[in-house]
Amino acid sequence: MSLPTLRVPAVSGRPEVLLRPFAVEEEAEARAAHAELAAENFDFLLDPYVPGRRSEELSWAEWLHGHERHAEGLDLPRGHVPALFLAAEAHGQLAGRVSVRLDLNAWLETFGGNIGYGVRPAFRRRGVASQILAGALQLLGEARDVTSAVVTCDPENRGSEAVIRGAGGAPAPVPDGEGRSRFLVPVPAR
Ligand SMILES: CC(C)(COP(=O)(O)OP(=O)(O)OC[C@H]1O[C@@H](n2cnc3c(N)ncnc32)[C@H](O)[C@@H]1OP(=O)(O)O)[C@@H](O)C(=O)NCCC(=O)NCCS
Repeated sequence: MSLPTLRVPAVSGRPEVLLRPFAVEEEAEARAAHAELAAENFDFLLDPYVPGRRSEELSWAEWLHGHERHAEGLDLPRGHVPALFLAAEAHGQLAGRVSVRLDLNAWLETFGGNIGYGVRPAFRRRGVASQILAGALQLLGEARDVTSAVVTCDPENRGSEAVIRGAGGAPAPVPDGEGRSRFLVPVPAR
């Protein structure tokens, strides 16, 4: 699967959100978003693994291409799963990002989950994360024959927990999963 584009329609006061690949001309904006979220210890831009290259020496074109490869299950470090790394656009601007892990390894099953998202501070409390999660669940359901997704958050992350519960997430703790809140979220049927 190459990186998809999905329009999540506006619903009950929440804005339309476009999930799409990061764009060639978007490097400066993406790096600005990364700096904003870094202040909260959240990695907005995840670096792909590109064989023979260190992440800090990747050009933006290599970075984009690396995520295209990972979406297709190519160039993955051992144990890593195919993933869709997408920008989230709201009101025509880069508002957030999402990583949709299409499969689960042991770490993702208990800790990381299928879906990870972040929203830039200026776009928060408007339903953007809720829209991102809805779109990510749809993309997961289109790519894999699953009925639920694992989505996790830090126990003190009230915002993320509200987003997960708002998508129908039901607590599903694991015995060795202390330090992380873990939920099973319904994936819409194809
Ligand atoms: C957590 C985060 C994704 C929420 O994004 P957002 O776009 O503001 O979320 P939404 O607007 O969709 O909020 C959905 C619900 O959560 C509630 N909510 C959002 N942020 C909240 C907060 N900080 N405290 C309490 N509730 C919060 C909203 O009130 C809303 O409830 P409602 O639908 O009843 O009004 C965003 O704050 C963020 O990116 N934080 C840093 C990165 C991060 O924590 N990512 C998640 C990792 S698990």
